[in-house]
Amino acid sequence: MLLNRPPQSRRRRRALLAGVVTVATAALGLGLSTQFASAQTTLRGAADELGKDIGVAVNYNLLQNDATYRNTVATEFNSLTAENAMKMDALQPSQGNFTFAQGDAIVDFAQANNQTVHGHTLVWHSQSPSWVQNLSGTALQTAMVDHINTVMDHYEGDVQSWDVVNEVVSDNNGALRDSFWLRGLGEGYITTAFQTARAADPSVDLYMNDYSIDGINAKSDKTYEIAQGLAAQNLIDGVGFQAHLILGQVPSNMEANLQRFVDLGLKVRVTELDIRIQMPADASELQQQANDYRRVTEICAALADCSGVTVWGLRDGDSWVPDVFPGEGAPLLFNDDYSKKPAYDAVLDALGGDGSGDPDPTDPTTPPTTPPPTGDGCTATLSVQSPWNTGATYAGTVTAGQALNGWTVTWTWPGSERISNAWSVEGNLTGPTVTATNAGYNGSLAAGQSTTFGFNITKPDGATASVPTVTCTAS
Ligand code: G3I
Repeated sequence: MLLNRPPQSRRRRRALLAGVVTVATAALGLGLSTQFASAQTTLRGAADELGKDIGVAVNYNLLQNDATYRNTVATEFNSLTAENAMKMDALQPSQGNFTFAQGDAIVDFAQANNQTVHGHTLVWHSQSPSWVQNLSGTALQTAMVDHINTVMDHYEGDVQSWDVVNEVVSDNNGALRDSFWLRGLGEGYITTAFQTARAADPSVDLYMNDYSIDGINAKSDKTYEIAQGLAAQNLIDGVGFQAHLILGQVPSNMEANLQRFVDLGLKVRVTELDIRIQMPADASELQQQANDYRRVTEICAALADCSGVTVWGLRDGDSWVPDVFPGEGAPLLFNDDYSKKPAYDAVLDALGGDGSGDPDPTDPTTPPTTPPPTGDGCTATLSVQSPWNTGATYAGTVTAGQALNGWTVTWTWPGSERISNAWSVEGNLTGPTVTATNAGYNGSLAAGQSTTFGFNITKPDGATASVPTVTCTAS
């Protein structure tokens, strides 16, 4: 998504005033914004059309030293997050000594390539320098406020959203994380951080960000409670779901979980997506990984208030995963030689791009396709994935009895259930009678092949989520 940027950022104005030209990485900019070959065949082309961010966490050293890395980051992504370069230990290694060079280099690269920047992160218990961890009371509070003010002021106009606090909820018991911030400042530090950030730059989207909150659980419940309190004071704009996932374990209620944050009036964002595999990864595991990536991307694509998906690194070998989970790896979209993994195609497909290799029917050189079958050529099933009090998530499966060019699944709700949002399906979805047709990319099926779609419903408080009888028709 292309932003109208202010003509001159705070950072750039200051540099010019000081007679300094921000050329540290001018050579990094490739000016690729208008060069990607087709909006349909790159992740960023598809995401731009969809109005979503597709982001990548970037490593400063690779951006500096590897031309293929730069080219791929510029071609495939419209949003960047600094993997490490904007954390407190990088930006303020000793008190009052701010070192912005690496963060600035990433911002310069993003601007040269018409990419947005998601700032990560202002207040975190990890990768905080030891000097701040040794402070307490007023001195700690002042240090936090100064850091937020100085960093946000420096990047005003350059960074469109910030993770104000990162990982503030404990893993086990739904309480706040026992960090030096909590011990030193009490639980009000989260509100203070957001108040400071809001005042520092009211034009930037403010997020809280965490891992293991992708499904509905005690940790995401606590996150919800905090976000609700901040939202009531208009101090927060979004919640970041890191989504450091394990193969085959996309939470079945992930979309319902994101939806409840959207229902608070907030944006949601998948901020650090990776899906790790027990090594060595075989072909079926890589296919399962593709399915998992597709699912997460579809969830965001279907939610108007999901600002985008960021993958936490470019190539498998760039990932933090093997260092922290020995024996696990291969969690990203690209192989180490920059070839694309099945997961890449799945993400491109889920963004509405052409990742399938299917012929383009509008291309005059494309051979004619098999005429659509007449009569019923498919079967369909619906199943309840995860019900909650006032709603439920459903999965639908369509299986082709013969080669199809499209399908329609119809049903009538027995009561007042209604679809609130859906993915991988189009049509008349929100009324009592549903006519669900294939999306652009999942209508062509070979005989015996299946595809899936999904949706959330609202239903009366406490009612059982019913499974209506469905009819599938080939079209
Ligand atoms: O820069 C030093 C280098 O000088 C030194 O030689 C080397 C020796 O180990 O360490 C280098 O620092 C490493 C740093 O990454 C930069 O590469 C640190 O050891 C290493 O711990 C650090 O890991 C980062 C980790 O956050 C720190 O907690 C990962 O790259 C980064 O991917 C990871 O990202 C976090 C998100 O910020 C928050 N959510 C979880 C996610 C994954 O852990």
